[in-house]
Amino acid sequence: MAMEIAATGRAVPEQRVTNDDLAKRIDTSDEWIRSHTGIGSRHIAGEHTACSDLALEAAKQALSMAAEREGRTPEAAALSLDLILVATATPDHYGTPSTACLIQGRLGAAEAAAMDITAGCTGFIYGLEAAAGLLAISGARKRALVIGSEILTRFTNWDDRGTCVLFGDGAGAALLEKTTAPAEGPEKRGLLRTILGADGSGAEHLIIRRGGSRLPYKPGETVDIPPHIDMNGQAVYNFAVKAVTGIIEKLLREEKITIDDISLIVPHQANARIVQAAGKRLGIPEKKFFLNIEEYANTSSASIPLALDELNRSGKLRRGDLIMTIGFGGGLTCGGNLIIW
Ligand code: UT7
Repeated sequence: MAMEIAATGRAVPEQRVTNDDLAKRIDTSDEWIRSHTGIGSRHIAGEHTACSDLALEAAKQALSMAAEREGRTPEAAALSLDLILVATATPDHYGTPSTACLIQGRLGAAEAAAMDITAGCTGFIYGLEAAAGLLAISGARKRALVIGSEILTRFTNWDDRGTCVLFGDGAGAALLEKTTAPAEGPEKRGLLRTILGADGSGAEHLIIRRGGSRLPYKPGETVDIPPHIDMNGQAVYNFAVKAVTGIIEKLLREEKITIDDISLIVPHQANARIVQAAGKRLGIPEKKFFLNIEEYANTSSASIPLALDELNRSGKLRRGDLIMTIGFGGGLTCGGNLIIW
């Protein structure tokens, strides 16, 4: 049985920091950041905001959207959840408790199982497929909330201009449920096909090195900078262009469709140049890709659900549209979904 995205939500911190704002603090410029990445600004969470706070806001929005349609309260919609998955690289706490458990408690989703997914910027795509599988395997489970949420700016080395200009904070949520739509014909909708991939040999290229069991902080050690993201930009860039082209080709081939059948591609928003390079290689016009990186920068696992909610709420996704998501990032991981909206 197919699973459809029945509702969406998003949360973005109020504080908006432009490239010019950054250029006052570090050796960079609006011109460099825009021309190398397409980023114009990023939203940064206040010091008391954690990953679960943004995730909760996005979750509540998705539940309110569903509740309104169903004529019940958001609290009742929360009680209808069977599963909560949170994709994040920047959880409230490392190891335990999962951020998903924090959301489960704060939503009062008493019937829902909860766990986190660590798959870098591909986390939401892994999350959708994991949720679809867990719903499919049990007749009792009907609804899952899949959330991507990140506070990346707290794990950013603000002395490294090569990475600190790239990241922003945000969250996006999608309510996935067993569809009541017919399995075939023009009314068909839902998650059609997913590709998931990983290349652990590239793990070193995008890594939070300190703070885990491999390199813990030691008692008495002076911590000059907190755990932060180290990235070999060129290596990840090359992986990303190959991943985006490979996933588009594979999804089209496996589904026996052409790019003309796709209404919109929603890629992970890491760098507009990655998308442009992949589009050029495949001869896909730029307007086929949705980009909001200019406003939000790279929000890792949040970027795709955040984009989906923006598109959904602005009426840019019509029922029956075939859309493609593509993710790539830390792990290294990559993946993509084909979804009939
Ligand atoms: O979401 C997870 C996946 N992540 C990605 O997909 C990121 C993939 N990588 C990239 O998007 C790009 O590699 C970056 C945007 C990170 C870097 O772009 P680049 O064109 O590869 O730049 P670069 O690192 O090769 O640096 C080029 C120059 C260097 O100066 P020199 O050595 O040529 O004099 C850097 O020092 O640009 C300099 N530079 C900067 N200058 C001004 C690097 N960062 C900055 C900066 N402002 N912020």
